[in-house]
Amino acid sequence: MRETERRPEDRSRLHVEASATDAIVRYRAVRRGTEALTRSLTPEDMGAQSMPDASPTKWHLAHTTWFFETFMLGPHLPGYRVFDPRFGYLFNSYYEAVGPRQPRPARGLITRPTVADVFAYRAHVDAAMERLLANGVDTLGGLLDLGLAHEEQHQELILMDILHLFAQSPLSPAFAPPRPAPAADPGPMAFADVPGGLAEIGHAGDGFAFDNEGPRHRVWLEPFRLADRLVTNGEWLAFMADGGYRRPELWLSDGWALCRAEGWQAPVYWREGAGGWTIMGLTGARPLDPHQPVSHVSYYEADAYAAWAGARLPTEAEWERAATAGGDLRGRGELWEWTRSAYLPYPGFRPAAGAVGEYNGKFMSGQFVLRGGASVTPAGHVRASYRNFFYPHQRWMFSGVRLALDGHGEGAAASDLEADVLAGLSKSRKSIPPKHFYDAEGSRLFELITELPEYYPTRTEIALLQDQAARIARRIPDAAALVEFGSGASTKTRILLDAAPQLAVYVPIDISETALQAAARAIRSDYPGLTVAALRDDFTNALQLPEAARGRPVVGFFPGSTIGNFDRAQARTFLEGARRLLGPGAALLVGIDLVKSPEVLVAAYDDAQGVTAAFNLNLLARINRELGADFDLAAFRHRAIWNPAESRIEMHLESLADQTVRVAGRPFHFRAGETLHTENSHKFTLEGFAALAGDAGWSVEESWRSAEPGFAEVLLRA
Ligand code: SAH
Ligand code: AVI
Repeated sequence: MRETERRPEDRSRLHVEASATDAIVRYRAVRRGTEALTRSLTPEDMGAQSMPDASPTKWHLAHTTWFFETFMLGPHLPGYRVFDPRFGYLFNSYYEAVGPRQPRPARGLITRPTVADVFAYRAHVDAAMERLLANGVDTLGGLLDLGLAHEEQHQELILMDILHLFAQSPLSPAFAPPRPAPAADPGPMAFADVPGGLAEIGHAGDGFAFDNEGPRHRVWLEPFRLADRLVTNGEWLAFMADGGYRRPELWLSDGWALCRAEGWQAPVYWREGAGGWTIMGLTGARPLDPHQPVSHVSYYEADAYAAWAGARLPTEAEWERAATAGGDLRGRGELWEWTRSAYLPYPGFRPAAGAVGEYNGKFMSGQFVLRGGASVTPAGHVRASYRNFFYPHQRWMFSGVRLALDGHGEGAAASDLEADVLAGLSKSRKSIPPKHFYDAEGSRLFELITELPEYYPTRTEIALLQDQAARIARRIPDAAALVEFGSGASTKTRILLDAAPQLAVYVPIDISETALQAAARAIRSDYPGLTVAALRDDFTNALQLPEAARGRPVVGFFPGSTIGNFDRAQARTFLEGARRLLGPGAALLVGIDLVKSPEVLVAAYDDAQGVTAAFNLNLLARINRELGADFDLAAFRHRAIWNPAESRIEMHLESLADQTVRVAGRPFHFRAGETLHTENSHKFTLEGFAALAGDAGWSVEESWRSAEPGFAEVLLRA
């Protein structure tokens, strides 16, 4: 029969047949999927209930079946015979409209029907469902989709509940065999900037979604930043080591009360033994893998961790925006991600009519939304609009943590002052990265430091550069670009520019806007033939060379022993980044201060006029001004301490009293004598520095050393 000869009735019958086959195939796949989960379980496993929130596997098997029987077969299959009228009471979960039910905490007491009876119940309902679906599903509304999605949710619940049950057993049974390989190191956490503005969230389109995912609606977002991966077990260990479970200031009040009452000291499935931590999972008890994302944490724990990290949890709208904007959400679908959004109806939400309307809406009280999906979540549920929800105290679901930060508005500082300060003050040993010294006043005070009689490094390095300028200039190719890290006032640069007129481009990089612009202006006017392309940025960021420097030979310059303000790992990371930025074959000239007597060192960092003290205390003034804090500068004193074990001068601000300071609305307590660590200034040996540079892929081509007090200039080659 040709297409044009087909009568309309034929076409609709074909459509019914096609959709019926499709429905039966989908129905069978989901039902078999559930039963497949029971393969490694014994009847005893399937009957036990480990806590009121969890249900026996047997109950899940029966309840999902009851759902099809009650909402589809009863009303829609003429002549359907109910398998056992008493099951309505046993396997109704929470549908008030359907009638009374077995109390949830007592589901484990249902020893009859047996597991075998429940499988017979499933077979009875499956046979009836096939008859119903053979007639086509067009008249059934979305009930089949709902029933299948409902059963898939219970597949995940079976795994959550079995894990909780097995975690109570001293034998730590494994539900599944272990994965062979440990997780790879995910690397440092990075934050992706997401612009603010008007966004739309909620389910759109024709695919199935639960009622709570709509209506799609507009939300206003401030700019925010979202971590590109989940928090790991290793990071959680650091939180614990820093008193994460012992420090009320990190916790929400309700969370702290619960943490105390229940004696929380670690995530729920962590166990500490002689050989270290093990974690109970579906593959049994395994040694803690520091690179795996931390899982099975409550909202309260997730929130305390975020406070400790100087961050926060994202809202559900932020999460959905980032997930649909094509952002790199590594780890998405591994664990449900807590959001700080209360589980509430979207604007315009109306529950469906009838008993199925009890599906999601009536739980919109006191819970928080989780987004993403977990490894145990059926694939179709890992969609951007899916809203999972749990109470903030619950810990047995596959929940993890992704951090967020408030974003930078337009024109805001590129430095992460607020995040760094909140994170640094949240640590048990308070610290703030030294890059935050350099606001306009900090840059001005630094220039005064360089003139102090005690502060020998600047003077010594200038003399050394002048002595060696001709030799250094010979290493600078024709028409090269000079890229300087932490250029400040660009004073030392002039020595190189004078000795190497072949330099065509100068790229000063500094975090301090005022210092950078003033220096760039002065250099431009004094060196008219030179192209000056200033880059205002944090030099620890992944930078790109400005257009003017591309395609030229490049020489890096990092004077002042500013590299000593990094710790060893940071210095290595910086040097690796500089190697990538400057390119193959590039040279990098680094100024390093050498180890010398502690008296000379301490005096250089604690001068008689108190300029270094003012430089250090200015950090608190800056935080007061920019973050709305209330540091009393008179209640802190400057300290400079030589730490021989680490070969570094440390600067601290010591609290002169017990006091509480508020920063960005949050209280931070200081004990009398407690210090805020503000800077390290490492002192090097030439051998030690060569090894450090070697680890980062640089080799020492030449070095020049001053007379005492010792300072050196090291020329590295990539
Ligand atoms: N090079 C000059 C200035 C050294 S002071 C000299 O040798 O005298 C350190 C300089 O590095 C300051 O100008 C400061 O603003 C800048 N700086 C510090 N941390 C920085 C960072 N993370 N990114 C960019 N610049 C930074
Ligand atoms: C920029 N940096 C190398 C200086 C140093 O010596 O560590 C900053 C400084 N801190 C106190 N005095 C100077």
